[in-house]
Amino acid sequence: MDDALARFSESISFDHRLYKHDIRGSIAHATMLCRQGLLTADELAAIERELKNIEARLDRREFPFRIELEDIHMHIEHALIEALGDIGRKLHTARSRNDQIATDLRLWVRDGLDQVDRRLLELQLAFLSRCDRDAGVIVPAYTHLQRAQPVLASHYWLAYIEKLERDRGRVADCRRRVNICPLGGAAVAGTSLPIDRRYTAELLGFETIAGNSIDISSDRDFAVESVFVLTMIGLHLSGWAEEWILWSTTEFGFLKLPHRYCTGSSIMPQKVNPDTLELTRGKSARVIGNLQSLLSLLKGLPLAYNRDLQEDKPPLFDSFDTILTCLELAAPIVRESELQAESISSRMDEGYLDATTLMEAWIQRGVPQRTAHHHVGALVAIAKKRGVPLSELTDAEFRQIDPSFDPSLRSSLSVQGAIDSYRSEGSSHPDHVAQQIHRWKLHLESCSMALASKSP
Ligand code: ARG
Repeated sequence: MDDALARFSESISFDHRLYKHDIRGSIAHATMLCRQGLLTADELAAIERELKNIEARLDRREFPFRIELEDIHMHIEHALIEALGDIGRKLHTARSRNDQIATDLRLWVRDGLDQVDRRLLELQLAFLSRCDRDAGVIVPAYTHLQRAQPVLASHYWLAYIEKLERDRGRVADCRRRVNICPLGGAAVAGTSLPIDRRYTAELLGFETIAGNSIDISSDRDFAVESVFVLTMIGLHLSGWAEEWILWSTTEFGFLKLPHRYCTGSSIMPQKVNPDTLELTRGKSARVIGNLQSLLSLLKGLPLAYNRDLQEDKPPLFDSFDTILTCLELAAPIVRESELQAESISSRMDEGYLDATTLMEAWIQRGVPQRTAHHHVGALVAIAKKRGVPLSELTDAEFRQIDPSFDPSLRSSLSVQGAIDSYRSEGSSHPDHVAQQIHRWKLHLESCSMALASKSP
């Protein structure tokens, strides 16, 4: 092989990280071959022993890589043959690198998804822990980034928990389609050797076997799907990061970020920069790019294995690495940041956050919505001119807008009055928020227990 081609076609520089999954797959494959009479018990024992030996050398980084051996599969097989001679030459019976790489990748993605799920749960728990800490704190909710209505801070945290729960749902759903065994598809048509695919699948903890040997080696749907799932997580983290960057500015003054996750400036001594959040926002771009790369890579490929598929690994690995790190950093930032309750409440009078509930109080008294909307709009104009909140308008000013004004309408005014008047399910009424918190506590606790009972 030409040197330039060797350098061009090698994948060991990035697929070496599949070694544990490759060895696990090979041991399962050999175990099945033995049960089917294609290896003797002694041969299996030797293969298993030597594969574990190779794994230990890889663990210790005492296993040199050579680009002429191309990929992780060839490296391991080559070392096996070096150690065992003809016995080592039997491992690749009824197997091709095409079904082998598909198997390795599925095992790797399955592990990756499990790690992501743990991290997502950890982040949900971090937001949940804030709900108790920030109980009773009222913040403005924004639409169009303009002050809209008052909500409990916990209501905000619960909103993030919802997003992360959907992410966990997508992880679980994706995992079901990942957890299918390709091994035994061989190169493309299956094999004439008497293998037992279901046994191998069982040994590797796969739910079932992939149904069609041609589809097997070309199918990378699971890779794209997992990267999409990660992209959605990236989008959620990016939006959260942006929000907290804003909230931590002097202009907002809502949040103090933990200094150990911030950096200083080399020239402006007073600066505390939210770099972790900025990078979280920025790194989501990489994952979006990775998704685009994978989609482009697969577009138009004819059936079965094509070497293009080797290029699936860098974007796949990078997406998992990136999102796992973002999640790892997000949890302590969420736990350790401090809500600046006084700074927030000192400005809750600004922005007429109670305007909507005042309008709804009118509606409850039979005034048509459009008319009530108009009334409140006119009152806000008066209040703005005088530089006061709605609650400070006089009864006479209210009557100027609606002669039948009833002072009991005032109970909907003020930020607390607005919060207390919410009643729709899922609203920011303190009782509803308490219910949500309770529901999430139960759910996340049982998820934690289920995870703790599985091995990490
Ligand atoms: N390194 C290859 C990949 O990642 C493994 C499969 C190679 N198969 C082949 N027929 N050349 O896709």
